[in-house]
Amino acid sequence: MCGIVGYIGNKKSSDIIMSGLKRLEYRGYDSAGISSFEDGIIFTSKCKGKISDLEKLPSIKNHKNYIGIGHTRWATHGEPNETNAHPHHDSNNNFSLIHNGIIENHYSIKEYLINQGVNFKSDTDTEVLVQFISYLYDKKKLSFYETVKLALQEVVGTYGIVVMCKNEPNKLVAAKNGSPLLMGIGKDEKFLASDVSALLDYTRNILYLEDGEIAQIEADSYKINHINHENEIIKDIKEIEFTLDQIEKGHYKHFMLKEIFEQPNAVKDAIRGRINNSNVVKLGGVLDYTDRILNAENIFITACGTSWHAAQIGSYLLEDILKKPVKVEYASEFRYRNKSVNEKSLVIAISQSGETADTLAAVKKAKDKNALTLGIVNVVGSTIARETECGIYMHAGPEIGVASTKAFTIQVVILVLFSNLIAQKLNIKKSKSYLDNLKKVPQLISEILKLSDKIFEISKEFVNATNFLYLGRGYQFPVALEGALKLKEISYIHAEGYPAAEMKHGPIALIDDKMPVVAIVTKNGFDKILSNIQEVKSRGGKIISITTIDSDTLRNISDYYIYLDNCSDIHNAITPLLTSIPLQLLAYHIAVLKGCNVDQPRNLAKSVTVE
Ligand code: F6R
Repeated sequence: MCGIVGYIGNKKSSDIIMSGLKRLEYRGYDSAGISSFEDGIIFTSKCKGKISDLEKLPSIKNHKNYIGIGHTRWATHGEPNETNAHPHHDSNNNFSLIHNGIIENHYSIKEYLINQGVNFKSDTDTEVLVQFISYLYDKKKLSFYETVKLALQEVVGTYGIVVMCKNEPNKLVAAKNGSPLLMGIGKDEKFLASDVSALLDYTRNILYLEDGEIAQIEADSYKINHINHENEIIKDIKEIEFTLDQIEKGHYKHFMLKEIFEQPNAVKDAIRGRINNSNVVKLGGVLDYTDRILNAENIFITACGTSWHAAQIGSYLLEDILKKPVKVEYASEFRYRNKSVNEKSLVIAISQSGETADTLAAVKKAKDKNALTLGIVNVVGSTIARETECGIYMHAGPEIGVASTKAFTIQVVILVLFSNLIAQKLNIKKSKSYLDNLKKVPQLISEILKLSDKIFEISKEFVNATNFLYLGRGYQFPVALEGALKLKEISYIHAEGYPAAEMKHGPIALIDDKMPVVAIVTKNGFDKILSNIQEVKSRGGKIISITTIDSDTLRNISDYYIYLDNCSDIHNAITPLLTSIPLQLLAYHIAVLKGCNVDQPRNLAKSVTVE
């Protein structure tokens, strides 16, 4: 969500912070700010808008010193403006603080501080925290570090924070609870960030803070404790593997387009080493848990947004194989209604970022109930990856575009692998043919991507559309939901996905000659969806067919016909990996033609670390 960067060392901090913030801008971007020590005072510049707006401020050139903090914000409390932008200060400008998360008891702390005579400038929960730290510092006469620790003992909520103190200018204090925060270790310099991509230009040696941990950091040393204990915590430093070009756009106009085109390789990476020549699936991260998985009496898959759509496909895959119900739950609901979860349950959490607050809370609830938790996560070392008992990394590479594309595809790939692993353990033979089909997917996606120009031409017809419907049956229903989500989040066109047969039960009332309807057609239920399309056609709707079956009948009733060659014989369960690609391209081209910022759509952030 919000992006955090801190630096202490021997270089100009503002250069490092600005470059880090730019790398994080995809996470949150309605305002930004930076603080550094200049001539003995905490000097801050902030503004509404993007990092490029921050860079244009005349005061920016006055940030010269070697210790500082910076933030890019996605508003939770208070509208995006300069006052509400981070860093926040206490009234005496003795402390500066950046924060990602939500201080839930900020109202009661604020009321208490107002009664003590403290004045507030902003509407944010973050200002409450920095004023509280300052108040305790004056009152308790503790060190900077001990004061932050004391303040956090009173705080309820989630935070990743970095704090500067005027009286101890050679130190930063950082703490984490529920929001990601990590430290980069360099020689005589230390970095802090909410996401490793902010630090890749400078270091690959990373240390992840865990919930409840607080660190005091100097250029050449650091010390970590728990906010409630005295003992020092010694942590492993991990080396980050991915490279800078993986998080840069290269020759692509947008990250989203780059990530759409990366899918053939991403699929190869996700299956590499996981299927042997005899088509036996091996997933190291769940190996020791096979018995518990096979014996689970009930299975839940929980996730949010696009990952929830992948979860839907996962439930179809697992039900096909296990012949027992698999429930898919929005994590935001699951965390509050999980009455049937117990020690015999398997709870699978799917998350690209591994930091989504609701999904994390769902995992914690499942653990409280002694269920086995399994994470399907992209970001290595992320909180959900660490919290789940077992898991399967996606290996999709970094996804920067806010609209998820390759992560969705790879989540489905992992679910195909996982369901096949189970099938093999249960001696279900048909699984092996699935896997031959899966191996063809990279090549088939490469072929489908060649349709991009054709889809661009079709997209021109829909730039002024205000609504869209997406229809699919069986495995194509979650694909329809995902196609609709892609379109609405980046082009702001209202779109809904429906099971094709549900049309007659209500949505058909919407059909007129201004309603584009995207129909996703494969060989399963072909005749049935053809009838559903006829029903739309006879009411004047504009049909865009995306099909793996080359059919004259379908071609003739379609206004636009997108045929995916060589895919007709692909197993039904694998087809979502193919049919979702043209939907990503359709959403992308319409959004670009409308002049929308596809990588940073309004009101959205890449990872939602607040409830
Ligand atoms: C949509 C999108 C979101 C995420 C959702 C969950 O394109 O990206 O709907 O899928 O916020 O995020 P993760 O997968 O990081 O838990």
